[in-house]
Amino acid sequence: MKINQFEPKISKKDKLAVSSYLNSGGWLTENKLTKDLENKVAAYVNRKYAIAVPNGTQAIYLSLLAAGIEKGSVVAVPNLTMIATINAVIWAGATPYIVDTDEYLCMDFEKLNKIKNLDAVVYVPLNGRTKNGIDIDRWCKKNNIKLIEDSAHALGSTYENKIMCGGLGDLSIFSFTPHKIITMGQGGMVLTDNKKMFEKLFKLKTFNRMKNKSDWHAGFGLNFKITDLQASIGLSQFDQLNSFISTKKKNYQKLKKIIKNENVTVSEFENYETPWFYDLKFNSKATRNKFFSYMVKNEIETRPHYPCLSKQKYLKGVMSTNLEYSETESDKLIWLPSSTNLKVKEIKLIAETINNFS
Ligand SMILES: Cc1ncc(COP(=O)(O)O)c(C=O)c1O
Repeated sequence: MKINQFEPKISKKDKLAVSSYLNSGGWLTENKLTKDLENKVAAYVNRKYAIAVPNGTQAIYLSLLAAGIEKGSVVAVPNLTMIATINAVIWAGATPYIVDTDEYLCMDFEKLNKIKNLDAVVYVPLNGRTKNGIDIDRWCKKNNIKLIEDSAHALGSTYENKIMCGGLGDLSIFSFTPHKIITMGQGGMVLTDNKKMFEKLFKLKTFNRMKNKSDWHAGFGLNFKITDLQASIGLSQFDQLNSFISTKKKNYQKLKKIIKNENVTVSEFENYETPWFYDLKFNSKATRNKFFSYMVKNEIETRPHYPCLSKQKYLKGVMSTNLEYSETESDKLIWLPSSTNLKVKEIKLIAETINNFS
């Protein structure tokens, strides 16, 4: 049986939650369950306000608008991230500025803090690693630069056990696609402690109605609502969050213990970080690619790391720092199967297959 790089874990409890919602007579659209989910996630990451939206991409876009980012604003993004991070900046009409990453694959603070005239930074705790987040937050505050935390991968990780991911900066976002720490199929959330930003987000999300059920509108607004049907599974998944986090951590430790191959380095995590995907590093892109094909033959699916934004053809010409680290290192990385569904025997098989690679 093939081992997938990722699959969501949908439990009996999740199925019951959805069927009991469907039996409740709810109108499917956003209502009490969505509010419950927003409240639970906000409390978990110590934020005052949360707003559920259809996906993480829209969550970043709306965060930028709420932060006052517009045409002419310059926004720093890391070179290693999923494409949504930079596309949301472009969608908001702003000018992206690509910043190199450090050895933790997060935005390089030394390179960031030399850029002049930034309006905002989107910091990504990539793969649950949080390294420079607190320093960058402090620097942004000092320099009056808005900070948006794209925490799509990092629900349950912390910055040195001091700040939860999703609690950093002016606004932060989560994504709830099937690959994420919890899922509701599609889904996203924006969080903030700033009442004005929250109100702006709420207006943008709900057609800017003058009051509930009114067809008079105080200004421009669109529809970024989710459904209580999604929230029913989101809440059930959220109740299992601690178990997902501990399984992710335990499986990572098991893999790390068995893997012994001089061609391969298992990338490290701190104990206050939750590994989203288990990443391996090789000494070259060629070896990484050879390993990918070797694993395909062994019916184990892996996933090459995100390529650098700077290597996407359509982003050619975007302003950037020197990108030496991310451009030389990212092609050596691969993600192993990382589902919480993995069985002990599958973890052993993955690790032993890695040990036999030469
Ligand atoms: C770092 C990062 N940001 C944003 C997103 C976009 O989230 P969504 O797919 O929910 O739109 C993703 C999706 O994988 C992501 O990995």
